[in-house]
Amino acid sequence: MAVQDLFRMEQTILITGGAGFIGSNFVLQWMNCERTPVVNLDKLTYAGNPRNLKPLSGNASYIFQQGDICDRELVRRLLERHRPRAIVHFAAESHVDRSIRGPDDFISTNVTGTFSLLEETRAYLSALPAENRSRFRFLHVSTDEVYGSLGLEDPAFCETTPYAPNSPYSASKAAADHLVRAYHHTYGLPTLTTNCSNNYGPFQFPEKLIPLMILNACQAKPLPVYGDGQNVRDWLFVEDHCEAVRTVLAKGKVGETYNIGGYSEKKNLEIVETVCSALDELRPNDPVVPHNNLITFVKDRPGHDRRYAIDARKIHRDLGWKPRETFETGIRKTIQWYLANDEWLQSVTTGAYHQWVATHYS
Ligand code: NAD
Ligand code: TYD
Repeated sequence: MAVQDLFRMEQTILITGGAGFIGSNFVLQWMNCERTPVVNLDKLTYAGNPRNLKPLSGNASYIFQQGDICDRELVRRLLERHRPRAIVHFAAESHVDRSIRGPDDFISTNVTGTFSLLEETRAYLSALPAENRSRFRFLHVSTDEVYGSLGLEDPAFCETTPYAPNSPYSASKAAADHLVRAYHHTYGLPTLTTNCSNNYGPFQFPEKLIPLMILNACQAKPLPVYGDGQNVRDWLFVEDHCEAVRTVLAKGKVGETYNIGGYSEKKNLEIVETVCSALDELRPNDPVVPHNNLITFVKDRPGHDRRYAIDARKIHRDLGWKPRETFETGIRKTIQWYLANDEWLQSVTTGAYHQWVATHYS
């Protein structure tokens, strides 16, 4: 094998779910900042969109492979062919409302898919020279939702908060986190786990709160707020999350977990009001202005977690990461991105999207 091929392999990372919201932001940021080869394994479910990665077409350092993380043969072949120095595992079913309507895919991808990656990684590592094995990392991207729901006065989630998942989505992510932990503890797999709060930013599929509100407000459609709108989430701009994941990959201590958050707790209603007033300014000629006249309170989500909050002091103290964006700067960038990317929005809001909206909000 030529020296440059060997060098290439030693630099390559394998990403799963890199055509989704966070994954595609991560791949773009990686290619911009790190510039080392990326192999992206993505099934291209309704949430995956290769258009997000169009700027990389023709880039010899970027390889896309459509496929399922549950396909062990495929995962094995990719590991053998590309011999990555790390796996960054984003692939998941990620929408809580969908997990309530149909949990099957959540168990399959989030639990069995993670298990399949762990097993194939274990086999791959056992055949690697000791030096490469010691450099290898398996970084598992998870969520703050595994910790359950907080009362308004409770302290924020830290890395030692006991797991108490409440939705099929968070339960499937918790199961995956436990498997990752067990593979480190039992087999010595060099794992890292990150638990992050709600992300927002470019390329988020408009079934999630912020892009749904932007899209509906621009089309003078109702803005459906669940329950009393007082549920609290911590919000992080997606590029900050990507930077945090890169930091953990570079400097994180093997076997550890890192909470990632935006220092930005907001009630849902506050978020929707913020989106509306920004749109009042940016789109004063829309058919319904002020846009908050479109706010409509709808039936609550079953088992709706009241509050999530992240204590992100460990990643700051140990690895020096903290977010660059405030909610005010991040939401502005996000709204501007959606307004400037109508073509992208049109391309993702196909028949299947309308069917979801019609079924879910009917
Ligand atoms: P997303 O739903 O936008 O994207 C998921 C991607 O995974 C899609 O490209 C999809 O095609 C792919 N995928 C799904 N099943 C697959 C399978 N079986 N095999 C291969 N690929 C598959 O999700 P996201 O919002 O980008 O989230 C990425 C990760 O970050 C998830 O693990 C999620 O749990 C975690 N996370 C998300 C948030 C958030 O606010 N979005 C917050 C914290 C953690
Ligand atoms: P979501 O974006 O689905 O993320 P998650 O459930 O993972 O936190 O929802 C964020 C919050 O917004 C959550 O409390 C549910 C609420 N929500 C609404 O009020 N209306 C909606 O139409 C959606 C999609 C969410």
